[in-house]
Amino acid sequence: MNVMKATLLKEIEELEAEGKEALKEDQWRMEYHVMPPVGWLNDPNGLCQYQGEYYAFFQYSPFHPEGGLKVWGEYISKDLVHWEYAGVPLVADSPYDCHGAYSGSAFTEDGMLELFYTGNIKYEGDYDYVNTGRESNTIYTASKDGRKFGEKECLMSLKDYPKGYTAHIRDPKVWKEKGRYYMVLGGRKANDQGAVILYASDDKKAWRFQEEITTREPFGYMWECPDLFEIEGEKILSVCPQGLRPEKFRFQNVYQSGYFLLEDGKECEQKEFQEWDMGFDFYAPQTFLDSRGRRILMAWAGLPDLEGHYHNPTVEMGWQHSLSFPRELSVQGKRVLQWPVQEIESIRRASVRIEAEQEIPIESRSFDWEIEGMQGEFSILVDAACRLTWKDGVASLAFEGDAGQGRGCRKARINQVRDIRILADHSILEIFLNKGECVFTTRFYPKERECKVKYQGKAEKSNLWILKK
Ligand code: FRU
Repeated sequence: MNVMKATLLKEIEELEAEGKEALKEDQWRMEYHVMPPVGWLNDPNGLCQYQGEYYAFFQYSPFHPEGGLKVWGEYISKDLVHWEYAGVPLVADSPYDCHGAYSGSAFTEDGMLELFYTGNIKYEGDYDYVNTGRESNTIYTASKDGRKFGEKECLMSLKDYPKGYTAHIRDPKVWKEKGRYYMVLGGRKANDQGAVILYASDDKKAWRFQEEITTREPFGYMWECPDLFEIEGEKILSVCPQGLRPEKFRFQNVYQSGYFLLEDGKECEQKEFQEWDMGFDFYAPQTFLDSRGRRILMAWAGLPDLEGHYHNPTVEMGWQHSLSFPRELSVQGKRVLQWPVQEIESIRRASVRIEAEQEIPIESRSFDWEIEGMQGEFSILVDAACRLTWKDGVASLAFEGDAGQGRGCRKARINQVRDIRILADHSILEIFLNKGECVFTTRFYPKERECKVKYQGKAEKSNLWILKK
């Protein structure tokens, strides 16, 4: 192990040990969501199933709850519900990634877990950091046991990427199709247009540029974290565009995250872009295929550059952010539905019937609440603080008081709501309308230890399960 790596790992271990004690009493830590042991978390990386276990790596800055030098943290799970922290497999210790081991993906084949990620380099000096002053390398490293990774190899750097791009090119996602390997990278073109660059390879090491995928007119200046996959024959391109103008019912966050259905031979149509999530806290999703053939999505339940928007008070406790709970994807018409993976049901404990108009105290802040057979307008309250309503074709999620920490209201157009499912876990709510046709993810910070819920409206059934630790 090189000296730089050993020094960083030692420092991280110490910070994590201190954090473990300090965070024991933190009421906003969650029970079944992936969180940083200490410090800052952003994108999910390298999601995969390898030798029967699920892997969720993540962008991790253990040094500060508001970000900083990025390394990769790692969680492993047998069931997508119980996650065990497995330490820091990648640090920023090579000439290719010394200012950050940025986002990337995993590929598993022939008994190896291989990672492809972006090595970030930033020069000190007077640069614009768009066209100059930075480098972004596509790096490869592999492991036999999923924990210890070998030598880092730089596969591509700025000189290798297509012409007409700025130095913002990153976040490789790799997959195999009909015996060939493919990679997409997200980028910012010189004309400030976001785009995806598609590569192909026969050996995962030498990559040949295939084509650029973008919209006819610029749709944001940069596309981060691309992912390209198929469900039931539909090709789906997921990207995170930056620089879209907010609209009344769309693009309400600082950056967006959504998908295009790509029809063969057709361009990526900007009018067909659909947002993954309409809540306050969702970005940088990544998907993977598991051994049961499920396409599973996990995202960062957070956003970058929130200053002046809203706040996460866990910063004062020394940590910030989490991943979303894994969601299984399916296609219905021209939409992708998202639904919590079925394993969540294995931790359902007592069930409570919630009658309309009654405020019911819930003994735990981790629960799974399903309301079915709804008709007409409704209003749902979690504590007095967070209200979900539907009326006249618009669903809205609004906070009153302190618990939202500056989060106001998010709105989505949806013709009719037939059912709702709310997954709660202390400081996160993931709300699924119509079996995942529309989703709202939000963080929130209630002070009271006990939760109260209430719904007003007409429903056939409403059951809430307490989830066990
Ligand atoms: C998205 C992102 C990625 C980048 C990573 C750095 O949130 O900006 O594009 O690789 O975060 O942490």
